Amino acid sequence: MDKKSRQYSATAVACANIALIKYWGKRHRDKNLPAVGSISLTLNALKTETSVRFDDTLSVDWFEMNGQVAAGRPLQRVSRFLDLIWNNDRPKARVKSKNNFVTGAGLASSASGFAALALAANRAAHKDRSRQELSQLARQGSGSAARSIFGGFVEMKCGTHTTDNDYAVGLFDENYWDVRMLIAVTTREEKKISSTDGMMRTAQTSPYYKQWVSRQPHDLAEMRDSIERKDFSKMGELTEHSCFKMHGLAMSAKPPLLYWNNITVKIINIIHRLRRNGTAAYVTIDAGPQVKIMALPKSIDKVKQALHSLSGIKELIECKPGSGAVIKSFEQV
Ligand code: DP6
Repeated sequence: MDKKSRQYSATAVACANIALIKYWGKRHRDKNLPAVGSISLTLNALKTETSVRFDDTLSVDWFEMNGQVAAGRPLQRVSRFLDLIWNNDRPKARVKSKNNFVTGAGLASSASGFAALALAANRAAHKDRSRQELSQLARQGSGSAARSIFGGFVEMKCGTHTTDNDYAVGLFDENYWDVRMLIAVTTREEKKISSTDGMMRTAQTSPYYKQWVSRQPHDLAEMRDSIERKDFSKMGELTEHSCFKMHGLAMSAKPPLLYWNNITVKIINIIHRLRRNGTAAYVTIDAGPQVKIMALPKSIDKVKQALHSLSGIKELIECKPGSGAVIKSFEQV
């Protein structure tokens, strides 16, 4: 990399995504290769904006997250990720990132975070990666980030034990089907056990892990089919099934991983009651206590009303299908 190309900075924006068919488990930790494929929906309302500026005059990387200078593990994760942009010696970087939503509490901040970082760093370094290569790159920061490179419905492909370049592909873009996701924030606290640690513990100790991995191709095929046919209730059933299967699996780890709180359970019960009364709405939950409720636009007000009386919900965020990661600005400094 020559001197001139070190003087560029780039800003990228990426949306978070929610997995409908969950990724849980790795077949290679260092390369961050997933043990299973997954299917997600990119969400328009949860965004990360990240600027990267490579700077020869810096002696260490500098990372600011939501206005606060970061150190320790978050900084280390960013530095290691930037090392992937070059094969050899690289200039240090100034990275500024901000989320428009709560960070680290199971709202997929690492997905939008590493997708935005991949795009911004690639551009600031004058590299010319394809979307597929950007997805591979983002995956090395966080598995779910590979999916946030694309908009709408996205599938993360799982390779075999002889391949190591897993990436996501766009199935249908954000204009394909207006499915809403209502996010009920039950706490703003950061989760105590990261997805990575949770996955490792599950793989090592759960008696059900093998079955989880072997059943995933079947779930993925069914989900692809339901999206293709725009069969909302089928898609909802598959989404809930994958969610509860993942959490059941995590709970069967030793010691158990329980990501839910009391409000999480109350919301699940409210949505199930709503469904028994004829409203098609389905829940999904990631490695945290927030509940995401999937519904069609015609039902979204009913869902909001049903949740209205429940104290303990800190915030409700309504999302539509979001677009893939983009470069917002690029400048010579
Ligand atoms: C429960 O992508 O955060 O949200 O690859 O270790 O960074 P790492 O994990 P991450 O895991 C996401 C797990 C999940 C399900 C999903 O998004 O598919």
